[in-house]
Amino acid sequence: MKIQFLDAATSGATRLIARFVNQDAVPADLEPVLASGAQIARFSGKAGQLFDGFVERDGQVVRVALVGIGAADAKDRKGAIERAGAGVVAKYLTSGETALTLDFTGAGLSAEDAAGALLGATLRSWRHDVYRTKLGDDKKPSLTDITVVGAPEGTEAAWEVEQAIAQGVAFTRELVTEPANIIYPESFVDRARDRLEGTGVVLRVLDEDEMGALGMGSLLGVSQGSVRPARILVMEWNGGEPGTKPIAFVGKGVTFDTGGISLKQPPGMEDMKWDMGGAGAVTGAMLAIALRKANANVVGVCGLVENMPDGNAQRPGDVVTSMSGQTIEVINTDAEGRLVLCDALTWVQREYQPTRIVDLATLTGAIILSLAHEYAGLFSNDDALAADLSAAGDASGDRLWRMPMGPAYDKLIDSPIADIRNVGPRYGGSITAAQFLLRFIENDTPWAHLDIAGTVWSDKPGATWDKGATGFGVRLLDRFVRDTLEA
Ligand code: BES
Ligand code: MN
Ligand code: ZN
Repeated sequence: MKIQFLDAATSGATRLIARFVNQDAVPADLEPVLASGAQIARFSGKAGQLFDGFVERDGQVVRVALVGIGAADAKDRKGAIERAGAGVVAKYLTSGETALTLDFTGAGLSAEDAAGALLGATLRSWRHDVYRTKLGDDKKPSLTDITVVGAPEGTEAAWEVEQAIAQGVAFTRELVTEPANIIYPESFVDRARDRLEGTGVVLRVLDEDEMGALGMGSLLGVSQGSVRPARILVMEWNGGEPGTKPIAFVGKGVTFDTGGISLKQPPGMEDMKWDMGGAGAVTGAMLAIALRKANANVVGVCGLVENMPDGNAQRPGDVVTSMSGQTIEVINTDAEGRLVLCDALTWVQREYQPTRIVDLATLTGAIILSLAHEYAGLFSNDDALAADLSAAGDASGDRLWRMPMGPAYDKLIDSPIADIRNVGPRYGGSITAAQFLLRFIENDTPWAHLDIAGTVWSDKPGATWDKGATGFGVRLLDRFVRDTLEA
């Protein structure tokens, strides 16, 4: 979406104009037919309302939308404005109109509000149609240009920051949406390298020989049934004080999860192309914070593997040795995410001594049973970190719900033959997965694990996304960096 700013609606204004309207504040300067139409349609400016009608202006038919943003003192004012921007785009994206004038005149927005509306609009316009060669013209997105008028002072500068977030979210959605024959460990790295080029992000890549030499038997055990070689992708953003230790984001990047020898059922298995949603979120977040030149040191690490059944695949009962030295009994080859993450976690701690670690992973189906698609699960060994992440979740809309941890859960993953087993009993599956990861955290480093299995993908459109990849995690991590490292 191309966005440009104008001081006032000119005679060159588009055929489609959307005007933001506060609760019970329908503008007095509307044509009578619009004002009456809005009243008949019970449009009052409530958040979520959209009324559109046609009027004649200078001999031309003009389509005018009134977009409700609710009361000025509403609790979630920011969210309502963002959703209003998104709602306009959802309505007109495939309408045949190519250009939209977004009129903020008289809405009393702050620059941040206005930029938020543009973020909502941009996020909602994202689509991935590259494989749809037969899409009818009336189904194709037509809207390409938004002209903003009546924006408060400072909106352009605020948008300069927010558009970086929009790009980060879009990149995450792209990675998550691409099928597993296109995005696999090597091609994930290539795609990230292409997109991050010129941003100042420093890339490092570990191949299987290097991982073998480092003793990453756990990650490599998952990968050994696949013909696609594993990779670890490391992205450094050194925008902060030179020499200060970074925070680390670690993502599960299982580019396809068949379950391995503990094979999954066919129905829904295609969803497992997005089992790299954690890695996708970390990569998109690195893009966002680099594009807005964050004043912070951040390292992103993605453990990239494909989990396949094969003559060379690992078996249930195999014992592997992780980089930490801990041995793991692989009871279920479908509990592979933790086997990938544990080696990535050990490596990032030894290599970077991060001050705080946040991992993101589509780790368990059980978190969807607990929280459905509204919250991601938050597990942590550190109350301050958990509080910071929860606050960033509320502020960004990528919401988190803290789950319990403790020694009683930890006991459930003891193994009779090795140091630890990779699954516990049927109940508490998300918690025992988190307890597994905690065993790889050294020196009580503040760590949090976000189980995002329920929030990466949506079967129905949401406020700022169409059905499909949501881009969950990018806005959360960006907000977390802003508020904890840059504030
Ligand atoms: N990637 C899956 C978790 C998942 C399931 C994500 C559904 C998104 C939607 C993970 O690797 C997995 O298979 N977990 C198992 C763990 C079990 C074997 C202990 C699960 O949740 O069933
Ligand atoms: Mn699995
Ligand atoms: Zn998985």
